[in-house]
Amino acid sequence: MRVLVCGGAGYIGSHMVRRLRAAGHVATVFDNLSTGHRAAVGDAQLVVGDLRRQADLEAVLAGDRFDAVMHFCARSLVGESVMQPYDYYDNNVVGTLNLLQAMRTAGVDRLVFSSTAAVFGLPQADRIDETHPIAPINPYGASKAMAERILADAAVAYGLRSVALRYFNAAGATPSGEIGESHDPETHLIPNVLRAALGQGAGLKVFGNDYPTHDGTCIRDYVHVDDLASAHLAALEYLQTQPGAHSFNLGNGNGFSVLEVIEAAVRVAGHSIPYTIEERRSGDPDVLVASSERARSVLGWHPRSADIEAIIASAWRWHRSPRY
Ligand code: UFG
Repeated sequence: MRVLVCGGAGYIGSHMVRRLRAAGHVATVFDNLSTGHRAAVGDAQLVVGDLRRQADLEAVLAGDRFDAVMHFCARSLVGESVMQPYDYYDNNVVGTLNLLQAMRTAGVDRLVFSSTAAVFGLPQADRIDETHPIAPINPYGASKAMAERILADAAVAYGLRSVALRYFNAAGATPSGEIGESHDPETHLIPNVLRAALGQGAGLKVFGNDYPTHDGTCIRDYVHVDDLASAHLAALEYLQTQPGAHSFNLGNGNGFSVLEVIEAAVRVAGHSIPYTIEERRSGDPDVLVASSERARSVLGWHPRSADIEAIIASAWRWHRSPRY
């Protein structure tokens, strides 16, 4: 298949591009390089453009006959979204709407969309499945929930086929060492832990140790970025036969606290990692763990790197010698 990968220069998108090509598909990357990296695209075709400019989208979609689009472009930081909501609604809602309109004009009717656990807001269950209420508590989650709603409406009105994949905490890097997670500023836990292990950065801060969890720190469900990529491939295949708008939660179903992640990183690095306990970060739910039974049974998704140490070890290889 010929697949347009919007946001293919970013962390998850670049892993997807490699996965698509390894599976024999042709991937074209569309990215504004605001947070993505040219080097992450490798030798795939890169079209530099912005979802907020309709002409950029029309040009890239007119340039090839795409069978499907994967849409990874987004602003994705909860705290930032609270401070800059217009940017989040503009990029994540208006940008997605622009893409859908350009796809309709070009006659492309299949989309795999990057969504997030943030659409659920405060968790009402130990494991969050697809029946959990959609009740986002910040503009980032709300922007993704709105985009999901647009996909459902587009299925009815225009016959768009879509799968929204709601990632829990993406982590790790592909074994080749060519690509990995590189954000500036970096806010995510595992890269920050590993940078502290390398003596880089301003020092590791643990945001809050007074949550109602077994050690007082927040619990998350870390899922390997290559496993997310394989879920997208399975979603693409699913859309071959299934009309309508679908959504799946993607995680390993195992929660690890911030302190457990640091302990696992200590085992991977082979030495201690200093940290300080700080105030809670606003907007952090205490526990977020997925039930991915639906992705397993319907998409046939089987994550290969469910072990937290294996996930951290793959990120460690990247962080010791990042290429960008
Ligand atoms: N944390 C620290 N120190 C750090 C970085 C993070 O203690 O330097 C803590 C956070 O407070 C949180 C946990 O580690 O408790 C995980 O934080 P991340 O920033 O790595 O990830 P989030 O859980 O905040 O983000 C994830 C997804 C988002 C989604 C969000 C929903 O990446 O897309 O969950 O809450 F929106």
